Parts: sequence; C-alpha cells; structure tokens
Amino acid sequence: MNSEPNNTHIKKADSKEYSVEDSTQPKSPFKGDLEGLGLKILVTGANGQLGNEMRIVARSSADTYIFTDVNEVEGQETTYLDITDLEAIRKMVKEQNVDAIVNCAAWTNVDACETDEKLAALAERLNADAPANLAQAMKEVDGLLIQISTDYVFGKEPYNTPCKEDQQGTPTGVYGTTKLHGEQAIMASGCQHIIIRTAWLYSEFGKNFCKTMLNLTATKPSLKVVFDQCGTPTYALDLANAITTIIEDYKKHLNLRRAGEYLYPKTGIYHFSNEGVCSWYDFTKMIQQIALELGYYDNRTPQEPLPLRETGEGLSLCDIQPCHSNEFPSPVTRPAYSVLDKTKIKETFGVKVPYWTDSLKKCITNIHMNQGV
Ligand SMILES: NC(=O)c1ccc[n+]([C@@H]2O[C@H](COP(=O)([O-])OP(=O)(O)OC[C@H]3O[C@@H](n4cnc5c(N)ncnc54)[C@H](OP(=O)(O)O)[C@@H]3O)[C@@H](O)[C@H]2O)c1
Repeated sequence: MNSEPNNTHIKKADSKEYSVEDSTQPKSPFKGDLEGLGLKILVTGANGQLGNEMRIVARSSADTYIFTDVNEVEGQETTYLDITDLEAIRKMVKEQNVDAIVNCAAWTNVDACETDEKLAALAERLNADAPANLAQAMKEVDGLLIQISTDYVFGKEPYNTPCKEDQQGTPTGVYGTTKLHGEQAIMASGCQHIIIRTAWLYSEFGKNFCKTMLNLTATKPSLKVVFDQCGTPTYALDLANAITTIIEDYKKHLNLRRAGEYLYPKTGIYHFSNEGVCSWYDFTKMIQQIALELGYYDNRTPQEPLPLRETGEGLSLCDIQPCHSNEFPSPVTRPAYSVLDKTKIKETFGVKVPYWTDSLKKCITNIHMNQGV
C-alpha cells in the first residue's frame, strides 16, 4: 500500500480532459434530461485488482467511466483522486456530473494493520472514513454509491451455513472491523447505496493468492496449505460484471423515478462470490491442476527450479499437502467458514454467478496468455 502517493504523473482532476467547460464530454442524461444515454460513473482505486477488471468491462459499456486512484500504472489512464479527501471528491462529482461511484479503493493489507497502530488508523481512514466521504458526496447529488466490502466482517462466531446479508457482523480483526465501520457509515448517511460483500478475490492483476500459488507450485518441490478455513474464491472479473448488471438496473430505476419513484428501492447489502465452497488447500490443488492442463508450467525458464521435475521415474509435480491454520501463525485470526449466500443478489438483479473452478480456469488462461501482467 502506498500511503504517500506520488501523483506527479497522474492526470489531475481539473485537467482539460475532464474540465467542466469541455463541451465535448457527454453530459449525464439524468441531470440534463436526455433519455437513453449512459451514466457518468466514477471508479476509485482503479489500479487495484477489481478496478482493473472494471476497466475491462467498461470497454463494452455505453456509460462514461472516470478511472481514479492515487497511484500510476504504466499504460493506464488514471485521474488522481484520494478518497480520504472529501472536498476533492465533491469537486470531481460536481464538475463531472457523476451519477454513481464504484468504490474499489481500500486498505487490503490484512496482516499489516493488525499489529501496527498507525496502519490500523490508516485502515480506518480508508475503509471507514473514506466510504463515508463518498456516501456524503453521492447523497448531495442523489447519486448511487456501490461499495465493496468483505467476508471478513464475519468470522468470530463459528458458522457452518452460508452467511446471509442480515447476519450480524462479528469481525475477527482490524481489517474486518474497519470494513464493517465503512458499511455502517454508508447506511447511516442515507445515500442510495449497494454494498457488495465479496471474498477471496483474485485476478490477473496485482498480488493475489492465485498468482502467488501459480508461482510457488512452479518453483517449490512441496507446499503446505491450510484446509481448515473454507470459503469461496471470487474472480474479480465476475464481480465487475455483477456490478455492471446492477448499474443497468439502476438506470432503469432512474427512468422510472420520473414517474414518481424516488429512492432506489434496491438499496442495501448483497453478497457476491463465485459458486461452490473450498478450502485454501483445495483452491491451491485446483490452481495446480488447471495450470498443468493449460501448460502453464511448460514456459518456465531453465534457471527456475522445477515445475515438473525429472525424477528418473517420470515427471513429478510440486507436492501440496493440507495443514492446520495453527501451523502458520498469523497476526489475524481468519474466518474458519465465510461462505457467502448469494441468493439475494441473484434474485434481485438476475446476476449470474459462475462456478469457482470455471472462473479460475478463465483467469489462469488469461494469466498464461499474458504472462508478466
Ligand atoms: N483482495 C481480496 O481478497 C478481497 C476480499 C474481499 C473483499 N475485498 C474488497 O474488494 C475491494 C477491492 O479489492 P482489491 O483487491 O481490488 O484492492 P487492491 O488491489 O488493494 O486495490 C485498492 C486500490 O486502492 C488504492 N488506494 C489506496 N489508497 C487510496 C486512496 N486514499 N484513495 C484512492 N485509492 C486508494 C490502492 O493504491 P495503492 O496500491 O497505491 O495503495 C489500490 O490501487 C476492496 O474494497 C476490498 O476490501 C478484497
């Protein structure tokens, strides 16, 4: 995490491209009464995992997206916006006629904020105070805030059935607590909102479990992975697609509300992950199996140790063994079972939820095709 962002190469919010005076920029139909056009959607944290997948789904959208972050990534157009700065958010929302915000920015380093008070305070600023800022800005223009939250809001209580949206949050650590505070702040603000709790996010971008395990299974002779924590992986591209489905539904509501309906009636909390259940051990075994099928290990350079090593008796793979969580002491107690029940998002929005191994195969295929992303 970069808490002191260097913004020297990032396009400023008030640069010509997004200037209010720029008449070439499409105006929001719902503020200018032009039916049938798209929305203006602000994506925060656009250089993170989910933010990058939002960039991909936005390419086939009729809506106008503004991608913002505090860091720069080569080849990505990014407008600078620090979501801890309420005035900066207000300014951008008003100048750009923003109709909706998709907040992909967060403090996601779960372990670091557990033991360091300064980082815990930073996590609170980013995961709780900043979403409150975004909610305030959306409330002022009657916009919609789509906030991403986490299965880590659960976990202290032992569950063995999938968690529903109205289940009480019982976080086990700082990260989960700050994300729960963020949810509470948004709900208290009275702005129109969709809070999506997700889990075990992975993608082609940034650091994540899938990419780490692709690397470890390619380079280590053996690995131990915990089998006593269960949940469901989520391919961030599937989540991005679910978000666009919700935005399409919101657009329908905006047309309807001229006929009398005001607040978005679907405001609330939803759960989204892929379908199915697994442990981190199963997740790793499946990553290895798919990588093997796709020939991912064949492309290693000779200097890299064994993906498939010659044993004299044929080829052997990295040996993956299950272990208990207490074999890997961690500053945070992670939820032992945080499977999310997705009935509500499916029934409310008709969101399609792919099975976790199908999505994993798609992601590893993309990683394999673009090695080095
Ligand atoms: N990753 C998971 O396994 C997981 C699981 C469940 C839920 N979630 C939630 O899903 C959402 C997306 O997660 P992700 O994995 O895509 O996150 P990510 O990859 O860590 O991306 C977060 C982005 O936010 C940026 N950011 C940091 N401080 C900012 C600020 N003050 N203003 C604006 N942007 C800032 C980060 O920049 P820097 O990199 O420079 O700091 C980064 O580009 C988050 O809400 C997260 O809590 C994630």
